[in-house]
Amino acid sequence: MTETVTDDGTTRDTESEHPVSYPPSGDFVAQANAGSELYQAAKNDRLAFWAEQANRLHWHTPFEQVLDWSDAPVAKWFVGGELNVAYNCVDRHVVEGRGDQVAIHWEGEPGDSREITYSDLLAEVSRAANAFTDLGLVSGDRVAIYMPMVPEAIVSMLACARLGLTHSVVFAGFSSSALRSRIDDAEAKLVVTTDGQWRRGKAAPLKDSVDEAVDSAASIEHVLVVKRTDIDVQWTEGRDLWWHDTVGSASPEHEAQAFDSEHPLFILYTSGTTGKPKGIIHTSGGYLTQTAYTHHYVFDHKRGKDVYWCTADIGWVTGHSYIVYGPLANGATQVVYEGTPNSPDEHRHWNIVEKYGVTIYYTAPTLVRTFMKWGRQIPDAHDLSSIRLLGSVGEPINPEAWRWFRDVVGAGSAPIVDTWWQTETGAIMVSPLPGVTATKPGSAQTPLPGISAAIVDDDAKMLGPGGNGYLVLDEPWPSMLRGIWGDMERYKDTYWSRYATEGWYFAGDGARFDDDGDLWVLGRVDDVMNVSGHRISTSEVESALVSHPGVAEAAVVGAADETTGQGIVAFVILREGIENTGDALIAELKAQVSKEISPIAKPRQITVVPELPKTRSGKIMRRLLRDVAEGRDLGDTSTLVDPAVFDAIAKAGQK
Ligand code: WT7
Repeated sequence: MTETVTDDGTTRDTESEHPVSYPPSGDFVAQANAGSELYQAAKNDRLAFWAEQANRLHWHTPFEQVLDWSDAPVAKWFVGGELNVAYNCVDRHVVEGRGDQVAIHWEGEPGDSREITYSDLLAEVSRAANAFTDLGLVSGDRVAIYMPMVPEAIVSMLACARLGLTHSVVFAGFSSSALRSRIDDAEAKLVVTTDGQWRRGKAAPLKDSVDEAVDSAASIEHVLVVKRTDIDVQWTEGRDLWWHDTVGSASPEHEAQAFDSEHPLFILYTSGTTGKPKGIIHTSGGYLTQTAYTHHYVFDHKRGKDVYWCTADIGWVTGHSYIVYGPLANGATQVVYEGTPNSPDEHRHWNIVEKYGVTIYYTAPTLVRTFMKWGRQIPDAHDLSSIRLLGSVGEPINPEAWRWFRDVVGAGSAPIVDTWWQTETGAIMVSPLPGVTATKPGSAQTPLPGISAAIVDDDAKMLGPGGNGYLVLDEPWPSMLRGIWGDMERYKDTYWSRYATEGWYFAGDGARFDDDGDLWVLGRVDDVMNVSGHRISTSEVESALVSHPGVAEAAVVGAADETTGQGIVAFVILREGIENTGDALIAELKAQVSKEISPIAKPRQITVVPELPKTRSGKIMRRLLRDVAEGRDLGDTSTLVDPAVFDAIAKAGQK
């Protein structure tokens, strides 16, 4: 690449005429929370730096030790400290005189809205905590939350945190069987849900799925139901309770007790290489410290001034860390929106930005690409001048989408923070710091102050500029996962066995450093697909397909997709005697995956093939299937048992 530096300080790629990097404006720098000294402070004394960040929180009992890593890879952060996470996210703001500040501007899909101040939130969380206690729940019990984006979902999470209950939020788009396996794995005693959910103007049932899931689920004692859509529901007396009766009649006074810094806060299931989702465990003090710290600096958040909007769903970690815990710990005023970006039409997000004067907007690349497809005339029809900072998460953002986002949504000046992290890391790990970093389209750039990341090769050699290898985290961090629920062996095996000698966390992503030393995340190196920023394992979809009586074998790959990043492509072999009924069969197989997992895991394409390409040792050659799915010429097939298999597959694909 040929580069020249222009008058405004940007470096330009002379071939494409696009700037290589975008330094922050002087105005932005002057008001930014972060300065470059932050990196220096963390470098000088990493643990002292984290202790300072932990002091953003209110501790009932101060901690005695910052980090205890003697039981690695299970860390203890802020040892001896006691805190209440909900007190930090709610009560503290009321106690400090900010009770009248809006915590949540809630926007319902059908157009209804609610304004919830920190005082309102305190009353509601206290009510829910009293009601949960009356149901017999005690610290350490697990609660499943299966809800659309209604305020009660956030209230339920905070009520759990307040009581030391461990929540397991299950995305409301997941099927009842996915919910069931998560309830069973965590042995949840309570499920909180809604009667139905609004989807593009229509009420769809939700409690029905819960009924199906908890029917005979041994651990469940109660189902607590928020009335949202008023659709008909089945009712099991004694087990089912209405939120408006139970929580509605509870006292709004509740005193929060302190819990140990390492008390488990939540379990969140995520896909791994094998079929069964992993219950990632997060604890309290370290998690809240890092979510609050990153929310403050990465989003340059100013309490009382900014209107922050993270478009994620609480069913994912982004919703946990950057809708609930980070922003509320920092006393933010935020927008929470219930619905899809195109209901009633494609203007919805920009109407919301205008209505509330959103200043910080955090979303996923897949949505940016969808906006691009809809056309810039849509955002251009709105006054988006309140926006001063943009964020991206979930997958690599392609430079074209990055530039469009900055130009069209950010008026050509808003810094974009491309934030790399995972369910397992709990909070942002690699990202530019706005006001400090000259941002670069497509690159997550730099580990945050206090975070240590490296790119290494197979032999554990650390690579420098120009290097291409695996992303590892070579020092523990406060919001790191503490294990996999019920399976510590799998925890060690999945993340810590690859570089066991070195004691590094293996993230599962490929990455490279460019010549300036900026980090580019290249995507998963394991059998995990990334569809619209959602993590789905190939084997999970394969087992859903083979659970269909007509399917003998299935192979699933992620193929490049212009909008969703990757699309799911499946190849199936039918059982002897099963007739290939064409479209009818394919539709049945797609429905099977929706039912077993979720509509988000539905393959884009399913091809019935006579055989699957396998190596001599019997491994399915996914690389070759990906080549077929992406329409590439087949590379080296010499290790195949029978290279002729491919002719058959290619033919089947053309049908
Ligand atoms: C995987 C984690 C973190 C919350 C949402 C996803 C990919 C995430 C980026 C980014 C490139 C990214 C990685 C990672 N990923 N952010 N900024 N650039 N890739 O959480 O479901 O746990 O998925 O998402 O592949 O490993 P998750």
